[in-house]
Amino acid sequence: EPVVAVVVAAGSGVRLGAGAPKALREIGGRALVAHAVNALAAGGVTRVVVVSRLELADDFDRALADATIPWTLVGGGAERQDSVANGLAEVARVEPGARHVLVHDAARPFVPATVVAAVVDALRAGAPAVIPVTPVVDTIRALSGGPGASAVVDRSVLRAVQTPQGFDLATLVRAHQHVRSEGLAVTDDAMACEAIGAAVTLVEGSRDALKVTDPFDLEIAEAVWQRRRH
Ligand code: C5P
Repeated sequence: EPVVAVVVAAGSGVRLGAGAPKALREIGGRALVAHAVNALAAGGVTRVVVVSRLELADDFDRALADATIPWTLVGGGAERQDSVANGLAEVARVEPGARHVLVHDAARPFVPATVVAAVVDALRAGAPAVIPVTPVVDTIRALSGGPGASAVVDRSVLRAVQTPQGFDLATLVRAHQHVRSEGLAVTDDAMACEAIGAAVTLVEGSRDALKVTDPFDLEIAEAVWQRRRH
């Protein structure tokens, strides 16, 4: 059975600072988006839809020249969920029989194959929505109860959410339509699915799947890449 992934790479990347668009920034001579596509392929993904700015098409052609699975590029939208929706429309076109879809951030180049495979396995076992999560390492405080007031939150019940997130394709398409028509604010696709009553299954994520947001994250990601080379 084919496994398609939408890789969103249409963010502005302003927090990373000057330079190439984030997905095209390189570690070890390879663009973040290419690392991400390879990581998905290693975990069983058979085809990728990359979502970014179409004027960067030539740059993506170069960056993904040695990709081991087929990929296509579609244009992004103003918000992440708009970019995902554009990707889902392309999935229906390039893989009409697809039952499942993964949604992954290009900014998470080093997600381990085991995490990708765990998401795919849970989908095949019938879960409508699957997300990789990690424990929260810091003590967390919530700002509450007036100016300057805060309270510690029990971190043992908190999890940080990563990608790739996996979905029953029809459920995710319906969830996006619902969120759009109701004007709901959601920060990820699992949250959109929950808004239409779909259960979200958690699988174990990995700190290697960190999201590269600022220059410090790029340093960490470089260290992960160095470790993987040996
Ligand atoms: O901004 P944030 O870090 O949440 O972005 C997560 C991912 O979503 C990134 O890979 C980014 O390129 C993508 N994104 C997108 N379209 C947007 C905003 C973000 O594809 N409009």
